[in-house]
Amino acid sequence: MTAPWWREAVTYEAYVRSFADGDGDGLGDLPGLRGRLPYLASLGVDALWITPFYPSPDHDAGYDVTDHRDVDPRLGTLADADGVIADAHRLGLRVVVDLVLNHVSSAHPWFVAARAAGPGAPERARFHVRPGRGPDGATPPTNWPSIFGGPAWTPFGDGEWYLHLFDREQPDLRHEHPEVAADALATLRFWLDRGVDGVRFDAAGSLSKDPAYPDLPDGWRPGDPAPYSDRDEVHEIYRRWARVLASYPGDRLGVAETWGGPDVLAPYLRPDELGQAFAMDPLYWPLRAQPWREGVDALLAATGRHGRLPTWVHGSHDVRRAADRWGPDGARAVLLLMLALPGAVYLYAGDELGLPEVALADEEIRDPVFRRSGGADRGRDGARVPLPWTDGPAPYGFGPDGATPWLPQPAGWGARSVARQSDDPASPLAVTRAALALRGAWWRGRPEELTWRDAPADCLAFRRGQHGPTCLVNFGDAPVDWRPYGRRLLLASAPATAEKLPARATAWLA
Ligand code: NOJ
Repeated sequence: MTAPWWREAVTYEAYVRSFADGDGDGLGDLPGLRGRLPYLASLGVDALWITPFYPSPDHDAGYDVTDHRDVDPRLGTLADADGVIADAHRLGLRVVVDLVLNHVSSAHPWFVAARAAGPGAPERARFHVRPGRGPDGATPPTNWPSIFGGPAWTPFGDGEWYLHLFDREQPDLRHEHPEVAADALATLRFWLDRGVDGVRFDAAGSLSKDPAYPDLPDGWRPGDPAPYSDRDEVHEIYRRWARVLASYPGDRLGVAETWGGPDVLAPYLRPDELGQAFAMDPLYWPLRAQPWREGVDALLAATGRHGRLPTWVHGSHDVRRAADRWGPDGARAVLLLMLALPGAVYLYAGDELGLPEVALADEEIRDPVFRRSGGADRGRDGARVPLPWTDGPAPYGFGPDGATPWLPQPAGWGARSVARQSDDPASPLAVTRAALALRGAWWRGRPEELTWRDAPADCLAFRRGQHGPTCLVNFGDAPVDWRPYGRRLLLASAPATAEKLPARATAWLA
């Protein structure tokens, strides 16, 4: 039996609002993305994940949806979505769409009706609605915090409060409600019928809440178990959705946006659930050999129990740029490491260019995290600045000349552009292209067990199985001799000599 297409796929996260602006309104859109698909094909990725493009008031950059089965007019039309899917397929690229089923926009007709209907009304049963506490109901129903900062409850002003694990404009749905469950299935089928190859389930672990709504214990900290995260009941929902995915031809993928260690993400990978669940912990592993070796082993073991492989996340629109978290050299070293490991890899748009995190001024920031945290957390927009395609002038090929991007691009952005890097064989883009081109021959489909080889301090060296190429990672500060690991240097993330791999670099050796 051949493996499904996604088992070791490299998926490019096309953050649609910042990828390419076709009509010049400053917001990336589907026609813009469609025009740039040949770039993704030539980059060598297998698939693209398109972030939400549904109608949205944009309180959370499209993750607040008013209609899941339509396209925001600023981003295009359903015909444009069909065009993206068709062109991608012609170019050999798979398409994954992003389904935000945990919550809707506060402007969604269901929530508008719930607000208007008043306490106890059946319209409110689609949401998590509770009376306030205290004599006048002025205290939130529980002490749950919003993931974006502040309380997770907002009052309707009539004695009842609604739950929102994210922004107050993103009320959480009750998936126990038959209409909510039926609508989610209709959305899933709608996009599968249009030919998408997979779906990402946003906020995957949040879909089930403890119906007793217990308070969090004293001393609870983010990341600790919570009555609204990764509950056993949530897996019944994924089993249901997995049956829908399996009823379509062509190995349709379900990928869970999970946040947690191996024990949290592995249950989503049971044979009757999903094919992939994001491994986010590696985003924060320091560049040291020991945490990577132990972490890789733990993820391989936990996913392997279900016959699956890890899904390595190199970056995303929710975290700081890879070049900022690991440094520019480290980001490339980690990419080559992830591409050699058994499993799938998610590469965030712009990280192939080594884009830095951008420091935005307070008034330029749109992310609700900034406002809800009282400015303590500057939010995620620094990783979302529209891409530079060509050298000057602004908007650097992101959109037509004269267009003003929704987040400002810094001066000199064009020096990092696709056009400039395409001419430079030592650029991050050139290294990424070379790595993706070689991965198919050297790593993909090799044995799924790792054999660790002896390595100098703060280095990792492994093979897949007993034979074949070695991946050597030098997390240390000094160059290391690569010759004990192979006769031929296939590729390195930084310029290597005939003997030495520089500090903070990865080499593939045969
Ligand atoms: C995860 C998405 O990736 C993030 O951008 C969003 O803010 C939350 N889910 C809420 O939908």
